[in-house]
Amino acid sequence: VSGKQTEIWKNGEKDSLTTIGFSQVGAESDWRSANSISMKRTFTPERGYDLIFEDAKQKQSDQIKAIRKFIQQEVDYIVFSPVVESGWDTVLEEAKRAEIPVIIIDRKVAVKDSSLYAAWIGSNFYLEGQKACKVMKAYVDEQQIPEVNIVNIQGTLGATSQIGRTNALEDAAQKYGWNLLEQESGEYTEAKAYEVMSKMLLEHDDINFVYCENDNEAFGAIDAIRDAGKTVGPGGDIQIISFDATREGLRRTLHREILINGECNPWHGEYVEKVIHMLETNELWQKEMYVPEETFYSMPEDMQIMLGGKEYTVQTVTESIVQ
Ligand code: AHR
Repeated sequence: VSGKQTEIWKNGEKDSLTTIGFSQVGAESDWRSANSISMKRTFTPERGYDLIFEDAKQKQSDQIKAIRKFIQQEVDYIVFSPVVESGWDTVLEEAKRAEIPVIIIDRKVAVKDSSLYAAWIGSNFYLEGQKACKVMKAYVDEQQIPEVNIVNIQGTLGATSQIGRTNALEDAAQKYGWNLLEQESGEYTEAKAYEVMSKMLLEHDDINFVYCENDNEAFGAIDAIRDAGKTVGPGGDIQIISFDATREGLRRTLHREILINGECNPWHGEYVEKVIHMLETNELWQKEMYVPEETFYSMPEDMQIMLGGKEYTVQTVTESIVQ
């Protein structure tokens, strides 16, 4: 990689930085901002890196353009979080021909040849959804709710996080006999979720659960529910399921506006750095890496949920977690 490294002068001596071209999906959510911060804090000149950060504004065409630019710039590594799973074969073949290792974070790519990328780091989105649904089932049983009428505000359609969380809900609805009234994308944004939720409330007067696929969608949905004269939280009209567990999401879970919040860990920077280190020392033994995550809920006591023979702790949100 030495030929491509950026030369700088440190204390009068020539030094070189490892150049990382990073194409971020956009700035659609608080989670995304945390993910960008994680990358920017990890890949600093002080730590030996030159980070070229490109924001794709949720457009795949912008991500493809950014990757092509990184190839021309002869960066040492390309890192990107793909907006959707499909449509990456051609540009990743170009990166492979240029011998630039590609590390994918967060969402996945569906490519014919897995050698087109070196590693993937992210969340098990189906598991996040499955755990949230298990907690929801426990809540429904405990509260003896006779009928579950749930609507689903989905994430960006075609993104791995949307596919995993939606599939988990669909499987749970089928298994537990919940009525899945409607599904529509809120594009992971507060504004779109407000619009979608307002429309769903006009179409269905019996909604008692909303499964939002991230915290910003949950914030938009809560506003829409309140503006329609309904209440959220245990004892209220509608219960909210959410994902991400951002600071604001956890605060609202603590205050019982959100019933269940599945953590999505955005702190990928340090894992990407480890992968780079392993690639440079030929020690990469695992192509796909899941980051650790919890599920939070706003019920008073901790519960143990059995999942596929493994035990997962579902945490009650406390003040100290939110701070
Ligand atoms: O792909 C991860 C999802 O993307 C996060 O849940 C969401 O907040 C973000 O926009």
